Amino acid sequence: MIVLACMKKVVLSGIKPSGIPHLGNYVGAISYWVGLQNQYDQAIFPVVDLHAITVPQTPKVLTEQTYLTAAIILASGIDPKRSIIFIQSHLPAHSELMWLLTTISTMGELNRMTQYKDKIQKTSSTEGVGVGLFTYPVLMAADIFLYQANVVPVGEDQKQHVELARNLAERFNKRFGKTFVVPEPILRKEGARIMDLLDPTKKMSKSDTDSGCILLTDSPEVIRQKLMRAVTDSGTSIKFDPNRKGLHNLLIIYKVLSGKTESQIEKHFAGKGYRELKRELAELIIAQLSPIQKQVDRYMKNKKRLDALLKDGAKRADKIAQKTLADAKHKIGLI
Ligand code: TYM
Repeated sequence: MIVLACMKKVVLSGIKPSGIPHLGNYVGAISYWVGLQNQYDQAIFPVVDLHAITVPQTPKVLTEQTYLTAAIILASGIDPKRSIIFIQSHLPAHSELMWLLTTISTMGELNRMTQYKDKIQKTSSTEGVGVGLFTYPVLMAADIFLYQANVVPVGEDQKQHVELARNLAERFNKRFGKTFVVPEPILRKEGARIMDLLDPTKKMSKSDTDSGCILLTDSPEVIRQKLMRAVTDSGTSIKFDPNRKGLHNLLIIYKVLSGKTESQIEKHFAGKGYRELKRELAELIIAQLSPIQKQVDRYMKNKKRLDALLKDGAKRADKIAQKTLADAKHKIGLI
């Protein structure tokens, strides 16, 4: 018990720069991280570019999106003095530990990952499926283990990957002796799965850049348009009901961003129609995103400052990562 009380608690989560971050990333992850960063001894948020390249990327676009994603994390309120923000590929330790972990991962368990199954269905047969897409969750486990993260705040789609990481940590520890902290996924009570505005049966996603997905860089006009076109139903009352998927999705976004309770929201919209809800929600999103967008613009115009912050983050991250990697190699018996 005494050991546990002295242990530093670490929170870690990542985002891949495979597109422009969207409202689902913001509600389910980034804004959640901002609240968590002060509740732990150490908070670590890598921009995981090595994950992004598991599907084809245009090099110049990838570079720009990597900067943009880092800028969005910072502009949303992650404090680079308190938290560590860095680019995954700046630290070779991630790829190196991943290799070690692939040797204890099984084909069967990776085959069961639903994200992988979904993604191979979307990949056209002429392209073929990259091996990186298959081993992706092992890299994610390496990201988590290097920093001995206790908790990993993610959206619902990433929970299975963190559970796989738990199994890998337990397996490694059993085989080679206690080396890695067994991480725990934590999900926002609401908002861990924001749905597409046009098809509320599927999650809002970077790969579907249609009008069902609000990008964090969208202008107020575009946000209003996308909201107005959001699919609802033929009902009239504005009530929280998970069966009314389109309406429920809008209300959950409203709830998380406004911080109001369900009964306050239902009371507020009593006697009002969907149009009013969409209008108010659009203004709420715009009010939250506008200051972030302004700050992002400043970072994007001053890449030197961004580079310096990311370099400092990488340096601090590397100190922790090297220690864990050396321990893992030693435990395995590598000289
Ligand atoms: P990524 O880049 O797809 O998404 C970043 C975070 O956003 C969450 N998210 C959502 N939350 C709510 N509603 C949605 N529609 C929605 N879409 C995405 C994701 O669950 C995630 O938390 N493999 C990870 C990145 C990663 C990582 C890690 C995470 C790499 N290494 C280590 C945690 C720990 C990914 O692709 O997330």
